[in-house]
Amino acid sequence: MAYVIDLSGKTAIVTGAAKGIGAATARILAEAGAQVVIDDLVPQEAIETLLSEIEAVGLRPDYLREDISDPQQAQRLIQQTAERFGSVDILINNAGVVADWDKSFDVHVKGAYYCAEAAKEIMAANGGGRMVNVTSTCSQSGGTGIPQYVATKGGLFSLTRYLARTYAPLGILVNGVMPAVIMSDMIMTRYESEAEMLEHYIPMMPIRRIGYPIDVARIILFLCSELSGFICGEIITADGGRMHVGI
Ligand SMILES: NC(=O)c1ccc[n+]([C@@H]2O[C@H](COP(=O)([O-])OP(=O)(O)OC[C@H]3O[C@@H](n4cnc5c(N)ncnc54)[C@H](O)[C@@H]3O)[C@@H](O)[C@H]2O)c1
Repeated sequence: MAYVIDLSGKTAIVTGAAKGIGAATARILAEAGAQVVIDDLVPQEAIETLLSEIEAVGLRPDYLREDISDPQQAQRLIQQTAERFGSVDILINNAGVVADWDKSFDVHVKGAYYCAEAAKEIMAANGGGRMVNVTSTCSQSGGTGIPQYVATKGGLFSLTRYLARTYAPLGILVNGVMPAVIMSDMIMTRYESEAEMLEHYIPMMPIRRIGYPIDVARIILFLCSELSGFICGEIITADGGRMHVGI
């Protein structure tokens, strides 16, 4: 017997999903049958290609351009989604930045909290839901040289535990994923070329490859599925073994 993940009838919001891990997550959730709402800051024209690509494999996603670090906009994202599609069943807090201390805290911690709080009652009224927060292994290892990024991803790690504890009685399972070394615009800002980036990372990677957005998206899909129905407050490491068994 093959296991099938079927998210038909579910509505999923993915923040920061114009590209990278968020875009791969939006795509895989749509492939599994969910109605996806993509949130990001880019203009509508910049996201048309992604919307069409996802429409080719699932339901056409909606795009909402709300800054989740602003409480009113985070609320609007959740409310508009519920009004258009009747529910919010899945929330992926994925939006991330490399920015100053205040902005990093506003996006990684407060933004995730605003979205979670706005979605909580809607999910509870529907009998429950899933939330997945995208933090980073640096929250545990300490390592990127960007203290405000590390510290606020640590904030999101502990917020995930807080939300999991607080929302579990409402039927909402909150979990997280902490990636590292995933090919993205964010990681490439520190290198001149892909070759230079690979030369730096591959020797440190136990599995001798870097990660790609799909590697993280598959874990998020699992955390949104029935297969993970007994997991609550867990933050899964997605780094090809680098943090625990790397050099
Ligand atoms: N790439 C990696 O190796 C890696 C490692 C660890 C953690 N992460 C985390 O994974 C997540 C996705 O990372 P990525 O590599 O795909 O990054 P990315 O920069 O490609 O995508 C992040 C997206 O978030 C959006 N965004 C930023 N602020 C926002 C806001 N206030 N409201 C709405 N959208 C906003 C950006 O516009 C961007 O499209 C981030 O939270 C990042 O911190 C990435």
